[in-house]
Amino acid sequence: MASKLKILIVDPIHIKLKNYMERNFTITVKHPITQQELINCIKKYDILVLRSGAQINNQFLEQAKHLRAIIRAGTGIDNIDLQALSKTDILFYNTPSTNSRAVAELSFSLMHCLFRHIKRASTEIESNIWNKKLLMGFELKNKNLGLIGFGSIGQEIARIAKGYDMQVSCTVSHYTAERAADMKKKDITLFDDLNVLMAFNDILVVCCPYTESTKNLLNKNNLCHLQPTSILINVARGGVVSEQDLYQSLANRDIYGAASDVFEYERQFSPLFTLDNFIGTPHIGAMTNESQEKIADLIIRFLEEKLLKEVY
Ligand code: MLT
Repeated sequence: MASKLKILIVDPIHIKLKNYMERNFTITVKHPITQQELINCIKKYDILVLRSGAQINNQFLEQAKHLRAIIRAGTGIDNIDLQALSKTDILFYNTPSTNSRAVAELSFSLMHCLFRHIKRASTEIESNIWNKKLLMGFELKNKNLGLIGFGSIGQEIARIAKGYDMQVSCTVSHYTAERAADMKKKDITLFDDLNVLMAFNDILVVCCPYTESTKNLLNKNNLCHLQPTSILINVARGGVVSEQDLYQSLANRDIYGAASDVFEYERQFSPLFTLDNFIGTPHIGAMTNESQEKIADLIIRFLEEKLLKEVY
């Protein structure tokens, strides 16, 4: 019998997937792992399983001599140089849209936390401080919600928002009058101007992919259009919002609050963490049992259909 394929796992995955891999492959789990550590050891493995914790680029691929497959257990491909990868024989697999619901629900959690001062309330009550009158907040009902990006996460957020009686509007990378008319039928306003979207809404959610054209998309030139009562939530990627410019808006109280699940430099301190009107979470958008199980099922199918059949 052929020896088992060796899998390296460098990000958290669902237990069902880990158990399946343990039964069928030789697995090594290393997370967190630095990019250099990954580059140094990748030649020993046949399959790499990652999420957003590593970069697939030329430097990595030069060392990935035996790699047969790269499995991105999630949606985002901003950490994968697909062009460089296409010049190799390595198979690539990811699981688009599997975590849209989880990310959408996290967006609402963050909206509630900001509007109801949950971070402050929870910290103060630990010291038996009951500051009820300073904890007056806002409801989500009837608020204007603006989505920057209308892919599967944006669409899921819009669906949930209807249950809160919110008015939803959005911007997309390619505006067309036809698309705007089509969305109008679903009661969603499509703006072709980001500044207008920013000025119009009480809540802005950034949920677009990170690309060359969305890098620093939100910066001081458009953050200034937000109202002092509005909040900004970033569940896309850190680099889409200029953290420096967001810091200034929050510190000057030009906006009510902001929350982010993603950071330009993850696993590092950000000055944003020092602000009382900011809430940060460590890229947990996809961390629900349901979404990780969906991802596990798809990857198991991929492994069975594409890899195990070919090898044994
Ligand atoms: C994704 O792109 O799927 C998300 O960033 C979730 C993740 O991999 O942690």
